[in-house]
Amino acid sequence: MAIKLEHINKSFKIFKRDAGLSGAIKSFLFRKYEKVTALRDISLKINDGEIIGVLGQNGAGKTTLIKILAGLIHPTGGNLDVNGFIPSKRKNDFLKQISVVMGQKNQLWWDIPASESFLLNQKIYDIEKTSYQQRLDELVNLLNVEDKLNVQVRRLSLGERMKMEIIAALLHNPKIVFLDEPTIGLDVISQSKIRDFVKEYNHKHNTTFLITSHYMNDIQALCERVYVIDNGIGLYDGNFDKLIEKINPLKKLIFELEKNSDINKLIQVLGKHKIEIHQNILSAQLPDEKMANLISELFNIIKPKSFTVEELPVEDAMRSFFNNPSKYI
Ligand SMILES: Nc1ncnc2c1ncn2[C@@H]1O[C@H](COP(=O)(O)OP(=O)(O)O)[C@@H](O)[C@H]1O
Ligand SMILES: [Mg+2]
Repeated sequence: MAIKLEHINKSFKIFKRDAGLSGAIKSFLFRKYEKVTALRDISLKINDGEIIGVLGQNGAGKTTLIKILAGLIHPTGGNLDVNGFIPSKRKNDFLKQISVVMGQKNQLWWDIPASESFLLNQKIYDIEKTSYQQRLDELVNLLNVEDKLNVQVRRLSLGERMKMEIIAALLHNPKIVFLDEPTIGLDVISQSKIRDFVKEYNHKHNTTFLITSHYMNDIQALCERVYVIDNGIGLYDGNFDKLIEKINPLKKLIFELEKNSDINKLIQVLGKHKIEIHQNILSAQLPDEKMANLISELFNIIKPKSFTVEELPVEDAMRSFFNNPSKYI
């Protein structure tokens, strides 16, 4: 077991200040605090070698969860075990086994090339020379950044910089890696390269990854299992595709018709299902289990020029979920 959380809570005290000068004086004399609860009663087990996605809207508690797991902040209550350690003690042996990458924070030095930051990490983590070189070569190769190693970090593109951040985070061969929004702001190609890398690296090294992302495509490509939090509460722990299917059991059938086809008969067959028609394209949202029958019925009436069946966007499904979670769980 890589990670075990039992009934973890986290609340922050924030100092509240009244408006104006008299307000400031009053607030100083009678300090008022407000409690913000970021995580409530979170229990979760993660196995060695898993890639788990943590999903949640802004402010749901994802980053707080990662900070607690990495020992950057203390939980307010509950039990926590990360690879046999209590993270907040920040023991050296613990720090050598984990790594955190935050998409919105840079850990590399901006004014020097990444290769020099890497050497610094070699010293900090006390990585033996040959294994350092071996790991560096492997990572640089997998991420395809050979020609960027000696470029000042500030001159790299966002995607290249993120790749370097990831290399820096993996050089010491951590067993558990926390990726907080690693693809934020990246173009679609860089996003998918980082995804491919995580997948391949996990496969090769059996490293455990916990990843948060705004981009549902990231999560869908990488994680069979997701943990969904909303407002600090765990709402779902399980297979991602099953959740999506539950939220949206429909798929989209798209028929490209010959010009002047008589579509009225098609519309009759599709009955109450939601359809849209744009020029010679007809699309219908249909339940997966009825799809095959309906397609063959439609084919009896009209031979389309072409047809496809598409999944509905995962983003839409998750938006519906967050609008009304109790409908689905
Ligand atoms: N240091 C802090 N002080 C006060 N409130 C905080 C602090 N860090 C996070 N929060 C609050 O905790 C909640 C969860 O935040 P966060 O974990 O950053 O969410 P997410 O990463 O899912 O967007 C939010 O309401 C946020 O405002
Ligand atoms: Mg966050």
